[in-house]
Amino acid sequence: MTHAVLKAKLGNEKPDTGIDNAARKEIAEHLSGILTDTYFLTIKSHVYHWNVVGPMFHSIHVLTEEHYGDLFQAADVIAERIRALGFHAPVVDAAGPDNAVVSLNTAAKSAHDMVSDLIKDHEAAIRKMRDAAEIAEKHEDFVSHDMLVARLSFHEKAVWMLRSLITE
Ligand SMILES: [Fe+2]
Repeated sequence: MTHAVLKAKLGNEKPDTGIDNAARKEIAEHLSGILTDTYFLTIKSHVYHWNVVGPMFHSIHVLTEEHYGDLFQAADVIAERIRALGFHAPVVDAAGPDNAVVSLNTAAKSAHDMVSDLIKDHEAAIRKMRDAAEIAEKHEDFVSHDMLVARLSFHEKAVWMLRSLITE
């Protein structure tokens, strides 16, 4: 027998905050895609942190550690924003052309390939976040907009740092 207190289920939450239901749904869907990318980029950064080899080992090992720490915390912030908008916070559709991580097979990757791969994923995340920030602003969801601007500055800085590692 389950206690009544444990039976609460996620229903159809409709916060009456001045953002209409269709807009909240649209923003939450964009944030869900961004949450997925953020989580998988966390994992990929961590896997490369462990497996990178060669003369750039230490630089990449340290930079990826900074990145996966930030990304892990960001996933929580993004997921909680989705909940505040009234929606379930899933990590969905991990594999697919639009998502950041399709394969985590690091066996055949050089340090250069790992960094290039991270740059590509950060750039893809940036493009999605820019679109989502524009949509959030259009619907006057300034909180999501603000959060996305903060995420964009992290990812753009990450791309700069990663690119600087492999520019000759
Ligand atoms: Fe570590």
